[in-house]
Amino acid sequence: MSKLPNISTSIFTTMSQMANEYQAINLSQGFPNFPVDQKLKDIVIKWTQEEIHQYLPMSGYPSLLEKIAKLTQDSYQRKVNPSTEILITAGATQGIFAAIQALVHTNDEVIILDPSFDSYEPSVLLGKGKPIRLELNEDFTPNWEAIAAAMNSNTKMIITNNPHNPTGKIWTENDFNQLELLLDLYPNVIVLSDEVYEYITFENKHISAHHRPKLWNRTVCVSSFGKSLHITGWRIGYVVAPESLMIEIKKVHQSLIFSINSIAQYAINDYIDVVKVSELGNFYQQKRDFFRSLMQETKFELFPCEGTYFQVASYGHFSNENDLDFVKKLVTDFGVATIPLSPFYDKGKDVKCIRFCFAKDDETLIKSAERLMKL
Ligand SMILES: Cc1ncc(COP(=O)(O)O)c(C=O)c1O
Repeated sequence: MSKLPNISTSIFTTMSQMANEYQAINLSQGFPNFPVDQKLKDIVIKWTQEEIHQYLPMSGYPSLLEKIAKLTQDSYQRKVNPSTEILITAGATQGIFAAIQALVHTNDEVIILDPSFDSYEPSVLLGKGKPIRLELNEDFTPNWEAIAAAMNSNTKMIITNNPHNPTGKIWTENDFNQLELLLDLYPNVIVLSDEVYEYITFENKHISAHHRPKLWNRTVCVSSFGKSLHITGWRIGYVVAPESLMIEIKKVHQSLIFSINSIAQYAINDYIDVVKVSELGNFYQQKRDFFRSLMQETKFELFPCEGTYFQVASYGHFSNENDLDFVKKLVTDFGVATIPLSPFYDKGKDVKCIRFCFAKDDETLIKSAERLMKL
């Protein structure tokens, strides 16, 4: 019998395959299509010639751990201990999985806010926890009344994602205040704060769990070098957690993967000194504005986009099709691959919205909009 009977191939894989099959423009999966920084490529070439090809320490290359601690200090004014509070992981995905396996016990309830990233629920189910899926409000802000009503003595974890995939929504001070008030009532609840788009926010700055000292002793913060350095294929990220939680997470990590690719760690250790992640917001803001201006010429209604490189749009006012059929038609008849929102919801609820990834060069964005205008 399957351990995950209701889970099938992810929508990201399905849509990227369809994009290849029909040679459509791929605005589905969240990755950039522009070249990686030449400086980073040169650093990789240099390191491949050195004798750095064997296992690194389980938690990560010590120098890179120190640089992550410095980045956390510079970005959030939070001091973390590089040897006890940071773990380098095979992308955020593995950090999330390891944290859930380590910290969620049989029948523990884990609150997931929908629409939600597709790795959360399977990770909870494999850890024998109970996913409690709650919808965000219509404007995609957290529904604090519903969250408060769902919390009880069985709640072990709440998974938050800010900036949010797929909606591009970011949390406010008030959201953090509400969370902290609730957590005061439930001292054993852990926060898994997925912040892979932490450096991609626009008019309003990202507020991180790292900014909130009250959360530090109970929060696992998840970051992704894939997202922050435009290298999603390298599969590298990290988690920051208090030592008491990290001890448990490392027990899972060492059985799952032991340690992360040495060349990637050496290369990022050098590159992090020359790259300015703080400029990522401006970089993607230009792309967002450009894409949104192009999309004004189409029939889609665009939701606000405060962060991430995703734009959500609704089509319910001009088509009744379910979102899976709708995105398939966009590929086959119009040559543009996108992501439907239903796979992000419990039981595939269809809200007649789709997601575009605008981490693409201008030419790709222009061509996509031209095709979508024909709808
Ligand atoms: C919200 C969210 N969390 C986690 C991940 C996984 O990140 P990584 O590629 O570093 O595993 C993604 C990737 O798209 C994401 O959108």
